[in-house]
Amino acid sequence: MIQTLSVELGERSYPIHIGCGLISMDALLSPHFKHKKAVVVTNTTVAPLYLNSLKATLARIGVSVIPVVLPDGEKYKTWETLNQIFDALLGNHCERSTMLVALGGGVVGDMGGFAASCYQRGMPFVQVPTTLLSLVDSSVGGKTAINHPLGKNMIGAFYQPKLVLADISTLKTLPERELKAGLAEVIKYGLIRDPEFFVWLEGNIERLQAGDEQALAYAVHRSCQNKAEVVAADERETGERALLNLGHTFGHAIETGLGYGVWLHGEAVAAGTLIAAELSCRLGWITEIDVRRIENLFVRAGLPVRGPAMGAARYIELMRHDKKVQDGKLRLVLLNAVGKAVVSDVADEGLIGEAIDARCT
Ligand SMILES: NC(=O)c1ccc[n+]([C@@H]2O[C@H](COP(=O)([O-])OP(=O)(O)OC[C@H]3O[C@@H](n4cnc5c(N)ncnc54)[C@H](O)[C@@H]3O)[C@@H](O)[C@H]2O)c1
Ligand SMILES: [Zn+2]
Repeated sequence: MIQTLSVELGERSYPIHIGCGLISMDALLSPHFKHKKAVVVTNTTVAPLYLNSLKATLARIGVSVIPVVLPDGEKYKTWETLNQIFDALLGNHCERSTMLVALGGGVVGDMGGFAASCYQRGMPFVQVPTTLLSLVDSSVGGKTAINHPLGKNMIGAFYQPKLVLADISTLKTLPERELKAGLAEVIKYGLIRDPEFFVWLEGNIERLQAGDEQALAYAVHRSCQNKAEVVAADERETGERALLNLGHTFGHAIETGLGYGVWLHGEAVAAGTLIAAELSCRLGWITEIDVRRIENLFVRAGLPVRGPAMGAARYIELMRHDKKVQDGKLRLVLLNAVGKAVVSDVADEGLIGEAIDARCT
C-alpha cells in the first residue's frame, strides 16, 4: 500500500509517497521527469545497493541517469564535495530544468538539495531518503546545507524538493545502530506535539527496532505528517519549527564536544532530550514520572539516556555556538507535558548546569 501526504506550501507544495518498493514504481516518478536526462547524487555505500534499481525505473520512463557517487560520511559534507556535484552538472551540460535526485541518507540529501538550490540559481530536485532519519526528518522541509570547518550546517539554503519518495524497503539494509538513531527523531514528534503517537510508540517500539515494515511505514507516515504540518506553518523557522530541535542544543554539544561521528546524531539527541526533560522537571513543568516514562521509551529503543561527562560548563560553552542562540541568549526547547513542547529563554544557567550534571556520567 502506498500512502501520500502533501507538504502545503502554495505553489511549492509537494507530495511525500510512503510505502515499500517505491524505487521501482514508474508511475510515482514519471509525472516529475520532463527531461530525458537526470542526475542522481548518491554515495559509495548506497550506490551498490539502490542505484541500479532507480536507474532501471528511470530508464523505463525514458530518462537516462548521470550518477554522481560521493564519498560516504559526514566529514565529506563540505564545499569540496559539493563542487564534485557541480563538476558533473556542468561537465554533462545539465540545464536549469534538469532533475537532480538525491538518493541516500541525510548527508546526501542535504548536499544534493543544496547543490540543486545553487546550480544555475535553482534546479528541481527529488529526495529519495534511505535512512530512518532521512525518511522521517531531513528529506522533508527543504533545509539543505553543507558544513563549514567552524560549524555544522552553517552554509545552506531553504529549498524545497518537488517530491519525496519514502521507500521503507531501503531500511532492510540499514545498519541496526543507524536505525535506532533514527528512532530518536521519531520519538521526538510524539514528545513535541503528538501525545497519541507517543502512546503508540510505547506499544510498538520493539516492532520498529526489529524492522517490521508495517510498523515502520506507520511511524514514517505519522512522523512525516507532523513534520509536514510544522513546515507548512513555519517554513523558515521563525516560530513553531524551532520545536523540532527538542534535545538538539544539548545533543549538538555532545556531537561537537566528543568530535563528530563518535556518537551518532540520533544518539546525541536521545541523551539531549533527557537533559531537556530533566530541566523541564526541575522547572516544575513536568513530573518525575513523566521523565521516567520518556527515559523508558528511549531505553527500549536502544538509545543512550545519559550524556557523556564533559562538565556542565563545557556543555554550556558548546551550546553558545549553536545556531539557535538569539541575541546571545540560550533558547531551549523544553517540555510542558509528554506531547507538548515550548521554546524558552532559560535565564538561569545554574539550573541548566544542574540538569546537565544530573543527566551526564
Ligand atoms: N535537512 C534537515 O532538515 C536535516 C534534519 C536532520 C538531519 N540532517 C542532516 O542529516 C545528516 C545525517 O543523516 P543520516 O543519519 O541519514 O546519516 P548519513 O546520511 O550519514 O547515513 C548514515 C549511514 O548509512 C548509510 N546508508 C544510507 N542508507 C543506507 C541503506 N539503505 N542501507 C545501508 N546503509 C545506508 C550511509 O551511507 C551512511 O554511512 C546530518 O548531516 C544532519 O545534519 C538534516
Ligand atoms: Zn535531528
